Amino acid sequence: MNREAYNKISDRWDSARRKFYGREREYLDVLLSALPGGASVIDLGCGTGRPMAEDVISRGYRVIGIDQSSEQIKKAAERFPEQRWVLSSMEAYGFNDGFDAAIIWDSLFHIERSYHEPILRKVVERLPSGGRVMLTVGGSEHPAFTDFMFGQEFFYDSNSPEKTLHIIENLGCHPLIGEFMNLPTEGRDKGRYAIVAEKA
Ligand SMILES: C[S@@+](CC[C@H](N)C(=O)[O-])C[C@H]1O[C@@H](n2cnc3c(N)ncnc32)[C@H](O)[C@@H]1O
Repeated sequence: MNREAYNKISDRWDSARRKFYGREREYLDVLLSALPGGASVIDLGCGTGRPMAEDVISRGYRVIGIDQSSEQIKKAAERFPEQRWVLSSMEAYGFNDGFDAAIIWDSLFHIERSYHEPILRKVVERLPSGGRVMLTVGGSEHPAFTDFMFGQEFFYDSNSPEKTLHIIENLGCHPLIGEFMNLPTEGRDKGRYAIVAEKA
């Protein structure tokens, strides 16, 4: 469902998603603060490469972008042809590329929650000691649901922030930031929670 839906809305997504929201750039500052120039950052669910990969590249790092939507990743590859872009779902990606930090931004919540721990495990296993990961999850415990964006239907699922923090800590990471980007409401918005964590 999500692959085709992102292919269909990719032009409109690309026009809308140009700038950082809220404290996103500050989270990137924390993610990258201990990294030497030239290090590699993997961006899982990278979209069209803007603004996250764009900012990471501008700071002198290399990016490996993974996205399952051909239209989304095509735009990222056209925009930054010198970086590595892989058309793949996170679930199927082999994690054979080395990386020093990881971004999983507004993408994990598009995947059934039973896959979240295995994906996070693969990411953390491949991070060096002291490497950092930043991600978002949904802001509340709720059943999987669908919602519409630009006229297309998208699937969403998430563990609660507490459970995600528990998973991350069990994988050997220490959270540096864990905060709501927006709080869940009684209605449509299930909330969004940001985490930046460091591997011991
Ligand atoms: C909400 S957008 C976020 C894009 C980007 N991370 C950002 O912050 O603007 C979600 C992106 O995740 C991708 N995505 C969704 N499910 C995915 C999956 N299972 N594997 C890889 N990419 C996925 C979508 O194609 C889309 O480009």
